[in-house]
Amino acid sequence: MSRIKKTEFERRRKRLMDHMEPDSIAIVPSAKEVIRNRDVEYPFRQDSDFYYLTGFDEPNAVLVLLPGRDHGEYVLFCRERDTTMELWNGYRAGPEGACQQYSADDAFPISDIDEILPGLIEGRERVYYAMGRHSEFDGKVMAWINTIRNKVRAGAHPPGEFVDLDHILHDMRLIKSAAEQRVMREAAAISARAHCRAMQACRPGLMEYQLEAEYLHEFIRAGARQPAYCAIVGSGINGCILHYTENASVMRSGDLVLIDAGCELEYYAADITRTFPVNGRFNRQQKALYELVLKAQLAAIGQIRPGNHWNQPHDATVRIITSGLVELGLLKGKVDTLIKKEAYKMFYMHRTGHWLGMDVHDVGDYKVGDEWRLFEPGMALTIEPGIYVAHDNKKVDKKWRGIGIRIEDDVIVTKTGNEVITADVPKSVDEIERLMAS
Ligand code: GLY
Ligand code: MN
Ligand code: MN
Repeated sequence: MSRIKKTEFERRRKRLMDHMEPDSIAIVPSAKEVIRNRDVEYPFRQDSDFYYLTGFDEPNAVLVLLPGRDHGEYVLFCRERDTTMELWNGYRAGPEGACQQYSADDAFPISDIDEILPGLIEGRERVYYAMGRHSEFDGKVMAWINTIRNKVRAGAHPPGEFVDLDHILHDMRLIKSAAEQRVMREAAAISARAHCRAMQACRPGLMEYQLEAEYLHEFIRAGARQPAYCAIVGSGINGCILHYTENASVMRSGDLVLIDAGCELEYYAADITRTFPVNGRFNRQQKALYELVLKAQLAAIGQIRPGNHWNQPHDATVRIITSGLVELGLLKGKVDTLIKKEAYKMFYMHRTGHWLGMDVHDVGDYKVGDEWRLFEPGMALTIEPGIYVAHDNKKVDKKWRGIGIRIEDDVIVTKTGNEVITADVPKSVDEIERLMAS
């Protein structure tokens, strides 16, 4: 039973069509199956835009929306049913199932699309399509248009305009409905449990991938069959490699381990990072830098409320981290000057967060024109400041080198402020040490 109801998918299609200009058509292709090696495929993952509008999770399908069409506005092209293929590879809805189970008004075999789709486009003035995102499909769209252009002398009317579909659709996806927020809370809760499990399982001598296994175990047993992205389990100096995914080193007493891992549940991502000591106790330098990152993270979360803009959390982290690094002696100079010169980037080189949703780095504009976007209820984002002191950074005292720390939580903007949906994983030094000792 899907957590997002059919009526919600229907509302989304209706809203999109309400935003489209008259006499237009929208075309959205599904994702394709991808070969991993020889005849082995990666697990199929539907394209987020396509799934958002259909709830249909098969490859080789095309969604067409035709506002105002007498014979139905919602058309799906999909694979036909096939007893042999279904025996080997599993159930297919087929055009009949597309109508009955997925509420399409009209559905056709994908093998007939070249014959049928030009006829649906013909006479429509505008085509809403994400040009440039699916290169192979771009060629097909142009071929269908050219089929119509080739018939102008017979009176055919090709469309005159292409409109970027992403703009409207991604603005819709940016604001999460109540049902979407419920799924995101569940994905967050599963991922939070996995982080707690890893903290309790951690000990010197384990391999990084053995901690990764604790996450995958917790995700899959909860029905979240895939992680939202490849887990980062970086101990010691590996914690300073921002996208470290080898996860193949032995974890040593005295080092920290930075873990960035979250599950995907029914197409919604969680994205959590915690950093904790392999042996369960922070040393003095680790604790000092950790508490600085935490202070920055809490201040950033405090900036999330309707009316504040996207960059306010980031600005807060930059100020706190810069002044903290000055106090600890890792940076020297006046805080304002160091901020202006971006001196903090030697230790804090990424942004404070990103939109979160069906894609871990979710869609949605960060600026409107030249202005940072204002927070609105229903937006979801991460807050993830960090400090990474390269192991060969000769500008700082040896005792700081090789420490990498990030703390990341997932936050939903509410009417009055925000809700941290990943708050179930401890993040103060005391809480972490207590959980690891238990
Ligand atoms: N896990 C990817 C990120 O934190 O942005
Ligand atoms: Mn992350
Ligand atoms: Mn993130």
